Amino acid sequence: MSEPVRIRPVRIDELRSALLRIERMSQPHPWSETAFLAEFDNPVSDILVATRNGEDVIGFLVRWRITDEVHILNVAVDPTARRQGVGRAMVRHVLDEAARDQAAFVTLEVRVSNDPAIELYRSLDFFTVGRRKEYYADNGEDALLLGWIPSESTHATNPVAPNPTG
Ligand SMILES: CC(C)(COP(=O)(O)OP(=O)(O)OC[C@H]1O[C@@H](n2cnc3c(N)ncnc32)[C@H](O)[C@@H]1OP(=O)(O)O)[C@@H](O)C(=O)NCCC(=O)NCCS
Repeated sequence: MSEPVRIRPVRIDELRSALLRIERMSQPHPWSETAFLAEFDNPVSDILVATRNGEDVIGFLVRWRITDEVHILNVAVDPTARRQGVGRAMVRHVLDEAARDQAAFVTLEVRVSNDPAIELYRSLDFFTVGRRKEYYADNGEDALLLGWIPSESTHATNPVAPNPTG
């Protein structure tokens, strides 16, 4: 039986050994090394990795935190480790921290054709905020804008108290 998934901040040496490798196997138009390096330099950005069996990186998630908003920019799991709860563990970790930090909401965009990812987010109580027309430059595909609000989620471990004035 495999070990539990652990989530921790990425190390710079894992950019080439893990992030770029997983990204290229996961996205039709993968982020470049330069794009990842910009995230390492961005003070509002942080990259989390999922590990199992010691230090094997099997997934990553890129998150921005700007004041009380959290935005998930990228999530990917090594194809050999999919459907084992790794993606859910990473997103749930971000939601737990958002609830703990009393974030107002968590948002992300997802391709309308990306059924596995949409299923993952729905299973964690994300809802549809809107649709961004022709959001993806590579093929003109629309994005769904999804949102998650700690105080409205059954998942929130530390929900914000409702505003008594409504
Ligand atoms: C989307 C992705 C991150 C999911 O990672 P994962 O580790 O395989 O997902 P999990 O095992 O945690 O699955 C959690 C839930 O998501 C849904 N799900 C995941 N993969 C699915 C699939 N192929 N088909 C249908 N539902 C799926 C299911 O509801 C699943 O729960 P279940 O296994 O109990 O039925 C992964 O498929 C991936 O890396 N895809 C390529 C990159 C990508 O599309 N990223 C998202 C960009 S917004």
